[in-house]
Amino acid sequence: MGELSVNHLLGIKYLNESDIELIFETADHFKEVINRSIKKVPSLRDITIANIFFENSTRTRLSFELAEKRLSADVINFSAGQSSVKKGETLIDTVNNILSMKVDMVVMRHPNPGAGIFLSKHVKAAIVNAGDGAHEHPTQALLDSYSIREKLGDVAGKNVVIVGDILHSRVALSNIFALKLQGANVKVCGPKTLLPKYIESLGVGVETNLKKALNWCDVANMLRIQNERLDISYFPTTREYTQQFGVNKAMLNSLDKEIVIMHPGPINRGVEITSDVADSKQSIILNQVENGVAIRMAVIYLLASKIK
Ligand code: CP
Repeated sequence: MGELSVNHLLGIKYLNESDIELIFETADHFKEVINRSIKKVPSLRDITIANIFFENSTRTRLSFELAEKRLSADVINFSAGQSSVKKGETLIDTVNNILSMKVDMVVMRHPNPGAGIFLSKHVKAAIVNAGDGAHEHPTQALLDSYSIREKLGDVAGKNVVIVGDILHSRVALSNIFALKLQGANVKVCGPKTLLPKYIESLGVGVETNLKKALNWCDVANMLRIQNERLDISYFPTTREYTQQFGVNKAMLNSLDKEIVIMHPGPINRGVEITSDVADSKQSIILNQVENGVAIRMAVIYLLASKIK
């Protein structure tokens, strides 16, 4: 088996096409493992991993923890809200204290863009970025591309539109890097106020008409509005946002072809996506969550093999 070109997973920006292929091939193996009656392998019995989360999470946190346990790693979990961060401890002091308990790898979610990159320069452990502010969410993008590959056979040549709050979305940026690296055609769609000015420089098309965007694509990745990162209003009302950029069953049925619907979660049902779309046969939202465990097992396994 090959090895990754990186010692940390800080963003898709730092990976090459071979890294993604290697992660997907490794995930194929682990997907088979987690569908066996005994879902566990002893691969990482000598590795200890700390999951440190400074922001809320359901999917990413549980998925990493399960992936680590399926690989037989020792796991410790840390939530900033219940920690001595509240007493003024710095990020580096916090992590160095955790590392002095002989931890090999840190999986971190943090509200500040670049927090993982900063940590990788100051502590001796492999760092996995589980989402850093509006910057990157690399394992989400990997599991998204992996789910497209699983559903459509390949990512190369597919038309993918990412719809919604592109400006504040780490999922959008990581997906754009991952999809472009694999040869997909990418467009973004949303209110002009939520599309970054630099977006076309990433080789991405812009479409502000949702119906046109959906008629163009093979896959639509619907994003929620990142209300926790909005300090001003970017559109008049949620109702108007939904009228222009929310996907519903009537719209899907009016398209020329059947497209695949994705969403990284959490979903705001009735805002960016209606329940009859989220729960429809065209939706692969829960397949994305299932694939997240195999992808995270692959990432952790491949990074751990560089520590040993
Ligand atoms: N997709 C995702 O990152 O979800 P969580 O915030 O629940 O981890």
